[in-house]
Amino acid sequence: MILVLLGPPGAGKGTQAKGLEDRHAMVQLSTGDMLRAAVAAGTDLGLKAGAIMERGELVPDDLVIGLIAERIDADGASENFILDGFPRTIGQAEALDRLLEERKRTVDRVIVIAVDDDALVARIIGRFTCECGEGYHDVFKKPKVAGVCDRCGGTKFTRRPDDTEEVVRARLKAYYAQTVPLIGYYEQQGKVASVDGMAGIETVEKEIDEALKGV
Ligand code: AP5
Ligand code: MG
Ligand code: ZN
Repeated sequence: MILVLLGPPGAGKGTQAKGLEDRHAMVQLSTGDMLRAAVAAGTDLGLKAGAIMERGELVPDDLVIGLIAERIDADGASENFILDGFPRTIGQAEALDRLLEERKRTVDRVIVIAVDDDALVARIIGRFTCECGEGYHDVFKKPKVAGVCDRCGGTKFTRRPDDTEEVVRARLKAYYAQTVPLIGYYEQQGKVASVDGMAGIETVEKEIDEALKGV
């Protein structure tokens, strides 16, 4: 299965992708995580992408399409993928359709996670992430033992440089201008299911599992 998670910054794409990995045999592919890894490693791609990400704008299509193509081929042709944060433009969606067609695969389901703008800002300002990739929140998702990751037992957490209120507003603007048109693109293909992302994390998980039945 290939599942696309669509939603504004802070909607819970990463949180839900990690949950899906734990509950089902699925692999998360997050272009945001891949780009942050490139920035940390100081690669050419990282140098190009870092400044753009800090402004809250989208990185050029060809850079992220290349990343996804590489990972789909590396992780195995039959793997069940959760695409988190990709595609984000019509150009990326079209490139993905072509890429999958060449590999005799297709996007099976697109889950749109809907959340109010005001809630998004609160979620992003309170977010922190473990080295292992597990995401937390100061209020909504604290580790069971303070300062220790539930998933890996690690104690090193970071906050993202683009998680300031000002940059979140720019990310939201990019979402409405460039990513929202994808909902219509996938509706035409009959693939969209919407979930209420304002609900608690576990309720959203149940709604997503329900939307995946029969796929
Ligand atoms: P990316 O890393 O994809 O960021 P984003 O889309 O802005 O989304 P976030 O990761 O901020 O939010 P999320 O939906 O994953 O929410 P989370 O689960 O963490 O992209 C970053 C940048 O990289 C972009 O701005 C762009 O520059 C570049 N980029 C990436 N992909 C690209 C592409 N394809 N093309 C071009 N450029 C690209 O949840 C947020 C917080 O809320 C957490 O603390 C969590 O614990 C909490 N939370 C989650 N669910 C709930 C809930 N139901 N109730 C309460 N709290 C919740
Ligand atoms: Mg994320
Ligand atoms: Zn961890």
